[in-house]
Amino acid sequence: VDRPRPLVAGNWKMNGLKSSAKVLDEIHAGYTPGLKAKVDLAVCPPATLVGPLALQAVGSRVAIGGQDCHAKESGAFTGNVSAEMLADAGATYVIVGHSERRQYHGEKDVDVCAKAVAAHRAGLTAIVCIGETREEREAGRALSVVKKQLRGSTPVDSNSQNLVVAYEPVWAIGTGLTPTSADVAEVHALIRDELKRLVGKADSARVRILYGGSVKPSNATELMAVENVNGALVGGASLVAADFLAIAGAY
Ligand code: G3P
Repeated sequence: VDRPRPLVAGNWKMNGLKSSAKVLDEIHAGYTPGLKAKVDLAVCPPATLVGPLALQAVGSRVAIGGQDCHAKESGAFTGNVSAEMLADAGATYVIVGHSERRQYHGEKDVDVCAKAVAAHRAGLTAIVCIGETREEREAGRALSVVKKQLRGSTPVDSNSQNLVVAYEPVWAIGTGLTPTSADVAEVHALIRDELKRLVGKADSARVRILYGGSVKPSNATELMAVENVNGALVGGASLVAADFLAIAGAY
């Protein structure tokens, strides 16, 4: 089986100003030929910076992504940004269904799926986020929750080019806590198996499944070595170029 090329994506969340251009410069400078040979990089800044950073990244092989999109192409949706707008600004990825969107904006699987459909319509690769809460894990429901979210959030037109799955246990996000390697392996194996149904057996092996939640240089080597972990979705540590590059270097 050809293993997918790893992807390390930074989710800047609601952080970043014009001055953050220097972080991208540092990432670009540290993205050495050796690293380029091993791993893809993407940076997902706030919407205000997608255009400027995409222009800055031209020719650098660092991809730029949005953090959310509306399901519609355009219209009377004050405050929203469409997938077409992100693509027009130079993005090639968009994160959909992040737990912070699910938690603070009430997004359900059906909404996340519609956003991923929009991403595909606009030619973007959707990074579909799923993951259980602490209560769900403690109740022994982590696997069933992840399976239900994956089935409900993944569009039928998905394939290994336009879909990336990110497993982010909610309790591991921004907390410094991470699941054991065995727990990550168990969930990623379930996702891989479920992908056979969603994108077909042949393509399922090529879909990148990222782990996200308190990934740092100090734990990246262990997490990235887990079977079926094809990269990371990095929050806090992606704001510091040296840390982001060290995580990418774990491959
Ligand atoms: O999307 C990435 C994120 O939710 C993980 O955040 O800060 O725990 O790396 P962090």
